[in-house]
Amino acid sequence: MEFSIKSGSPEKQRSACVVIGVFETRKLSLPGEILNKATDNYLSDLLRRGDMEGKAGTTLLLHKVPGTLCERVLLVGLGKERDFREKEYLDAVATAVRSLNETGAFDGILYLSELAVKKRGVPWRIRQAALVALSTLYRFDRFKSKKDPVRRPLRKLTLIVESRADLAAAEAALAQGQAIAAGMSLARDLGNLPGNVCTPGYLAEQAMGLVKGGGLKAEVLERKDMEKLGMGSLLSVARGSRQPPKFIVLRHDGGKPGQKPIVLIGKGITFDSGGISLKPGAEMDEMKYDMSGAASVLGALQASAQMKLPLNVIGLVPAAENMPGGDASRPGDIVTSMSGQTIEILNTDAEGRLILCDALSYAERFDPECVIDVATLTGACVIALGHVATGLFANNDSLARELAGAGEDAWDRAWQMPLWDDYQEQLKSPFADMANIGGRPAGSVTAACFLSRFAKKYDWAHLDVAGTAWKSGKEKGSTGRPVPLLTHFLLSRADLLME
Ligand code: BES
Ligand code: MN
Ligand code: ZN
Repeated sequence: MEFSIKSGSPEKQRSACVVIGVFETRKLSLPGEILNKATDNYLSDLLRRGDMEGKAGTTLLLHKVPGTLCERVLLVGLGKERDFREKEYLDAVATAVRSLNETGAFDGILYLSELAVKKRGVPWRIRQAALVALSTLYRFDRFKSKKDPVRRPLRKLTLIVESRADLAAAEAALAQGQAIAAGMSLARDLGNLPGNVCTPGYLAEQAMGLVKGGGLKAEVLERKDMEKLGMGSLLSVARGSRQPPKFIVLRHDGGKPGQKPIVLIGKGITFDSGGISLKPGAEMDEMKYDMSGAASVLGALQASAQMKLPLNVIGLVPAAENMPGGDASRPGDIVTSMSGQTIEILNTDAEGRLILCDALSYAERFDPECVIDVATLTGACVIALGHVATGLFANNDSLARELAGAGEDAWDRAWQMPLWDDYQEQLKSPFADMANIGGRPAGSVTAACFLSRFAKKYDWAHLDVAGTAWKSGKEKGSTGRPVPLLTHFLLSRADLLME
């Protein structure tokens, strides 16, 4: 979809549809007031008659409103003015875009981006509006032989800023929103692809394909390379599958030479059957999303390249399939990780940490500024935080605060969990340096504790996205989280995040 930024009065817009916000109860937003005057109180009369209350989520489409130059006016309910914050703003934009896409208007002019949102300025409103608009229109119908046609899809969206002085900053923010949305859409596509298509080899090909877009370099390590590096833990996970494992290294060298890189690591289990500790059958199909961490890292790198961030960013993706083949790891097996530490595999379904630990060791060679791993790591994290917040763990509190802040800004929120030594006890093994599980209590914390043992040499954070990377039920599908959080973090490190 095409975007543009403009300022100007609503009654003067020649367009298929002008979108105006209405607060509860029946209070026009400022641009609405202006339009109302130009239309000789057409809008206020209509509200007074009770045609619309302004409740959040509601819309009213008007045709050929006298005194305007546009074909339609779409009124969008905003809820109570006092309660109008980030979430309400984003929901209103999503509602507007959804109905624009259904009304048959080819283009729309969004006056919602002019609304005041507490603590958020023009760039934030524009960046997030573009992001929400694009993710609202996202579809995944690659495997439908009959595509669900949208009659006359929305082709162009104009975002309005109040003052001409804001145009330049708004343009820059728009470009950021578009890059982040493209990264999210890549992550969602990869997540939604089934396990028989999106294999470790497929992920590696996609990473190589990203190089064509410019600003990225890719390298793929094969099984024999991983053997040479001593990645015994990662390799043990791939043993039960016919699919060979891959280790993807994707780089965006946008910073000064010698500037320490930010390393992002994504869990790339393309299907998690549980292995010999086989998962129960119900909803096992959702384990195709177990590479969502990897997908978000690829998405964040694509966005970094597209935004030409003046940073060195490295994406690492250990990719494997967890299957119960004849050569699969058995419970009780002991493996040696790249770090030299030995691991007793008590449950083959705790495989994410087994591939991530070797990637964390591999990251040391880059002398990183910091390392952030992203993984659909534990069901326990879903129990703790549900589908709202991503679990955030870190060995450095200021890095944790920074990431939590990026999540707030991006409206892709994460909540910090403890990583206290007291929990390390649970990982004791009588036979090896550690076990790969720590029992039922605090399952997401002990998983993070396990990873922390491989991340001692640098500042490190871990994002458990088991509850946030995809949706179940009738809206089943990948969400693209935490691409917004990661990209906001990077933008802020590059000093390019405009409030
Ligand atoms: N990929 C799963 C985590 C998961 C489960 C994500 C449900 C989303 C929904 C991970 O590999 C796993 O199986 N974890 C186990 C760990 C346990 C064996 C210690 C879990 O959470 O049950
Ligand atoms: Mn598992
Ligand atoms: Zn898994």
